[in-house]
Amino acid sequence: MDRPIRILGIAGSLRKDSYNKALLRAAVQLAPKSAVIETFDLEGIPPFNQDLETQLPEKVKDFKAKIRAADAILIVTPEYNYSIPGVLKNAIDWASRPYPDNAFDGKPVAVMGASTSMLGTARAQYHLRQCFVFLNMHPTNLPEVFITFAREKFDENGELKDENTKKLIVKTLENLTSWTLRLIKDE
Ligand code: FNR
Repeated sequence: MDRPIRILGIAGSLRKDSYNKALLRAAVQLAPKSAVIETFDLEGIPPFNQDLETQLPEKVKDFKAKIRAADAILIVTPEYNYSIPGVLKNAIDWASRPYPDNAFDGKPVAVMGASTSMLGTARAQYHLRQCFVFLNMHPTNLPEVFITFAREKFDENGELKDENTKKLIVKTLENLTSWTLRLIKDE
């Protein structure tokens, strides 16, 4: 391909000092030359209401257009109560509707997540991977990016300071890029 692949990065937290937003910012900086990451902030997406899916809110229309324009998706998610945060699941539900107008259809996707405890969002990520089946997305498998004890990995300005985590992000983005190129070639 004669241009960098376009990745849309989404963080599943609205919190100003979110570790997952910080992780997504780090990914933007660590992207390989063959990829560029644009981010989309989920702030302002209303709660899903199926009555409104034939006249989508403007923010949702914008979200779906950004997903469609991207070659691949990067989701960076916290874990809430052992699962996907409502804010993220809500946004995914909107973007998949109205059936069958699913903006995620056929998109390659990679997942990362940071939590303040010892499992680093593993359970949320596996729930997300379950959603990818019906969304018909194509996830990268490895490496899995479970950022544990996030308070130790970022400085007070939200800058990622852990070198191993940086390497893991680079590897993930390289894999997402090559996976996306493979899928585009096969189309
Ligand atoms: C959490 N947290 C959390 N952590 C975890 O590892 N597993 C979990 O199930 C939960 N559950 C949970 C529920 C709710 C409602 C909140 C607010 C928090 C802690 C979570 O890892 C921590 O708050 C992170 O900092 C959230 O991510 P952001 O906002 O920093 O990106």
